[in-house]
Amino acid sequence: MNDENAPATTQEGEAATLQLGGKGYDFPVLPGTIGPDVVDISKLYGTAHTFTYDPGFTSTASCESKITYIDGDEGVLLYRGYPIEQLAEHGDFLETCYLLLYGELPTQTQKADFDHRVTNHTMLHEQMARFYSGFRRDAHPMAVMVGVVGALSAFYHDSTDISDPYQRMVASVRMIAKMPTIAAMAYKYHVGQPFMYPRNELDYASNFLHMCFAVPCEEYKVNPVLARAMDRIFILHADHEQNASTSTVRLAGSSGANPFACIAAGIACLWGPAHGGANEAALNMLGEIGSVDRIPEYIERAKDKDDPFRLMGFGHRVYKNYDPRAKIMQKTCHEVLAEVGIKDDPLLDVALELERIALQDEYFVEKKLYPNIDFYSGITLKALGFPTSMFTVLFSVARTVGWIAQWKEMIEDPKQKIGRPRQLYTGSTRRDYIPVSMRK
Ligand code: SDX
Repeated sequence: MNDENAPATTQEGEAATLQLGGKGYDFPVLPGTIGPDVVDISKLYGTAHTFTYDPGFTSTASCESKITYIDGDEGVLLYRGYPIEQLAEHGDFLETCYLLLYGELPTQTQKADFDHRVTNHTMLHEQMARFYSGFRRDAHPMAVMVGVVGALSAFYHDSTDISDPYQRMVASVRMIAKMPTIAAMAYKYHVGQPFMYPRNELDYASNFLHMCFAVPCEEYKVNPVLARAMDRIFILHADHEQNASTSTVRLAGSSGANPFACIAAGIACLWGPAHGGANEAALNMLGEIGSVDRIPEYIERAKDKDDPFRLMGFGHRVYKNYDPRAKIMQKTCHEVLAEVGIKDDPLLDVALELERIALQDEYFVEKKLYPNIDFYSGITLKALGFPTSMFTVLFSVARTVGWIAQWKEMIEDPKQKIGRPRQLYTGSTRRDYIPVSMRK
């Protein structure tokens, strides 16, 4: 005898029933290994001729994934099940890349092979250097990144056939290997210095810092403390579930576009100040506030509905608790400031006081607005020697492995099909054309 309150069931198990137009429609409830279940509504339109409506996808799972898990309420971030705190503390970025791509931590042999493969793909086709001179020197480096990364598909035709697993692997390694080179060249072009070639004897983060800050006129020794900090910053930014830029890469890839074009689309999306551009915007905001005595004025502005100002580096679509990456970034920030000899950075003073006040303010507490990864990254990157305009470029270097891993997972999903959302149409009903002579 069925209890009318008992959940409906389908062949697979529990179901959700939607009452629509006096009819009940059952949809299967699919459980995850951890985190919320999902209601599979893929057959809703076919059975009830109705769409769901969820602008911003606040309650929508766009795919099934095994790569990254976030618990926004608990402030948890796992890459393939491993807590970000442990990976950032004990591992290095290329180990994290291997983990995100292949699902397991590499053995020593696998790690050595992967490091070797990445290291030996860091050089860019020499002709690509000419692209940079097509940009104005004062172009935003993210504009350069979108252009040059998109152009990779014009140079590496032998790894654009997405149906070939070998070519997918080659494209993945090429992207991870070449992004630091492309980014460093964008920086060098921006500051009017000659490009520096990658050095195969250096590790990933040291090689990047060397390409950015070395000059041909003298030896440049990478500071190992700063290289470790850079490597950890890359780990923190590597992947983050179905964020806006990752969803962009998945959608672009779902049409069969080549991986280089998909990553260029991800870079374009990441540039926005609500997303990856927030680190640049957060540092600019701290500079605009300037001193701790002006913080209350900005807190009030952030709370004013009629003022578009928001506290950059605060709030998150998923984290309704402290972003675990922000804690590690704050620790890294202090390490870098100490190493470069910055005793009292006014921007850090403003950031610490702003955080203290905001975390006590009822507006931020009620809306569960906490510092996110971008709140401290700007101060850290500035102390490492990067101009503000390079901050989101560094984010794109790190996130490339996440984009590629998610793209690879989608391409290898046998259920994969082109992403094509529908809409709620509220425009004009059908009407006939009026010749211009008869229009009022
Ligand atoms: C990243 O998705 C990811 O995982 C992204 C990322 C990743 O690794 O890929 O984590 C990287 O993008 C981090 C977020 C960086 N962005 C910023 O720091 C920009 C400032 N933050 C906000 O723009 C905002 O918090 C978002 C965009 C991050 C999230 O916005 P949501 O989830 O759409 O939330 P919302 O805009 O609906 O805000 C809810 C409420 C609103 O008030 P009400 O309309 O309910 O009255 O909170 C308010 C907002 O006005 N609010 C803020 C605020 N963030 C949200 N008020 C003041 N300052 C803020 N920063």
